[in-house]
Amino acid sequence: GKVAVLMGGHSAEREVSLRSGAAVLAALQSQGVDAHGFDPAEQPLTELVSHGFQRAFIALHGRGGEDGAVQGALQYLNIPYTGSGVLGCALAMDKVRTKRVWQGAGLPVAASAVVRREQAVDVAGLLQELGGKVMVKPAQEGSSIGMGSASSVAELTNALVQAHQYDDEALVEAWLAGPEYTVAILGDTALPAIRLQTTHEFYDYAAKYQATDTQYHCPAGLCELEERALGQLAYSAFQAVGGRGWGRIDVMCDAQGNYKLLEANMVPGMTTKSLVPMAAKATGLSFEQLVLSILQHSEV
Ligand code: DAL
Ligand code: MG
Repeated sequence: GKVAVLMGGHSAEREVSLRSGAAVLAALQSQGVDAHGFDPAEQPLTELVSHGFQRAFIALHGRGGEDGAVQGALQYLNIPYTGSGVLGCALAMDKVRTKRVWQGAGLPVAASAVVRREQAVDVAGLLQELGGKVMVKPAQEGSSIGMGSASSVAELTNALVQAHQYDDEALVEAWLAGPEYTVAILGDTALPAIRLQTTHEFYDYAAKYQATDTQYHCPAGLCELEERALGQLAYSAFQAVGGRGWGRIDVMCDAQGNYKLLEANMVPGMTTKSLVPMAAKATGLSFEQLVLSILQHSEV
């Protein structure tokens, strides 16, 4: 049947989504699928029905697309869609609540605190409590938008203002020394881990989409035992937040070499620089095969 590739949308990650969507659309069409781009920022989702779409490939990132809203609408319209459902998407979009669920499930996360926009906070005390260096993130964003590191009161104050431009809640996490890994999940399998190496202080928006000197290592250089442990951790983390079909779990090592879960991405990037396609390639799966496999997991 006719497939809509949902792309664009209203979130801060709109540009990334347009690139993911274009790549997915081209791949589906090259495999003979009757696929068409559909931007919910330009036309209401209800028009999927009048246009005769029978299935949706969700390539929307961030709020309104990756947070359960579109998933709920599609469910209401009886249109099967790729990836996780309403619950998993809503939960994973929120880093604060995702961490609470992981903690409750006994999965490893870094020490952190939550600061609301209007909250009076002892910035110096918070910094000290979290070890003197922190990462500040809007609770609900993607692609590192609104994120900043801080190791002084002035930096933390600024980082909170920046994060609060994107969300009422900011997550302040103890700094993790790295390295950073990411694990793609396809169906019920963890794909080989990728180790990220950036010349920036952290894997920020520019390192993700613009830099030419970001290095991706897959295989990640782990021994067999470590690779298996990381894959199992990522899969457990994906399941704990209700993940389904496909996704990507980001993980970072602390200074002692222990894995700490960062976040779950329910609609990971599918641009030419993105990580899930890279991990798939390492297992011999082409971009086209990956896209078809994700689509096949959209049976509901
Ligand atoms: N949020 C971006 C799209 C990613 O996780 O790849
Ligand atoms: Mg993310």
